[in-house]
Amino acid sequence: MTIKKIGLLGAGTMGQGIAWAFAAAGKEVILYDIKQEFCDRALNAIGKSLEKSEQKGRVPAGTKAAVVSKIIPTGKFEDLADADFIVECVFENMDVKKDVYTRLDALLKPEVIISTNTSSLPITEIAAFTKRADKVVGMHFFNPANVMKLVEVIPCLQTSEATLDVVTALSAEIGKTPVRVKEGPGFVVNRILVPAINEGSQILYENLATAADIDTAMKLGAGWPMGPLELCDLVGADIALAVMNTLYGETGDPKYRPSTLLKQQVRAGWLGRKTGKGFFQY
Ligand code: 3HC
Repeated sequence: MTIKKIGLLGAGTMGQGIAWAFAAAGKEVILYDIKQEFCDRALNAIGKSLEKSEQKGRVPAGTKAAVVSKIIPTGKFEDLADADFIVECVFENMDVKKDVYTRLDALLKPEVIISTNTSSLPITEIAAFTKRADKVVGMHFFNPANVMKLVEVIPCLQTSEATLDVVTALSAEIGKTPVRVKEGPGFVVNRILVPAINEGSQILYENLATAADIDTAMKLGAGWPMGPLELCDLVGADIALAVMNTLYGETGDPKYRPSTLLKQQVRAGWLGRKTGKGFFQY
């Protein structure tokens, strides 16, 4: 199966990075969001970032033009109709997913695989919204998705082996390393990483160290590229909280209870880089 055209739903933080990753690997990307301006903004951010990289000589001249020209922003759902493969990264809410999957199922060619980048919702339930549940699969990228090499490939109960093979091959084709993980809350990375972010938040809540010192401690004491609080600001406190709520809700295990401060940050709208303030100011 040749996959040339990727239909990407959601131009938020992850959508932006994923569009970039596919475009950089030469795939055409139809980037859809409910408003075209969200896609334009994402495309602009990719362009600016690549411009800087070009100026610094970190990527060859012409990279920006090549990548940006592969991404077609749209606010029209029907523009996804001739996609060969879908990556969905819309809002992490089951009602929103239900609406999107029902419409996608009706719109797409029957053979098209729909992958979801969800980090907190059960893929088995998402697949059940479609009549092609065997072609629904988790394809979990990591932020910043244009840089991080891992893709978790997650079969849900209904996913076929053929679908898994396609997603695994596609991940490798765009220069990522796929790992297969059975469907379980948090998969591998988030099950380990997000409780660590949560613990960083709780340590701050208990006033044991400053935010900067918590991050310095983990960078210098454990070799992390970023501290847990800076990382939370990168992924978004809302996403981190959604993952904690899933881990807690699905397992019922109190070791996963979300930190009070993390909940407060979300209530305050201090989500991190995307809102200009999180544990740190941007
Ligand atoms: N967006 C896009 N590109 C970025 C970026 C961002 N936010 N931050 C850095 N980059 C790019 C730079 O442009 C550079 O690319 P180039 O060499 O092609 O120009 C490259 O990344 C390296 O950047 P730097 O040298 O400036 O920075 P660092 O060496 O400090 O690396 C990092 C930055 C790769 C982000 C590193 O700090 C890191 O690995 N941090 C941890 C990230 C992580 O853990 N991610 C997983 C989060 S969990 C998740 O996403 C799952 C979800 O479901 C919650």
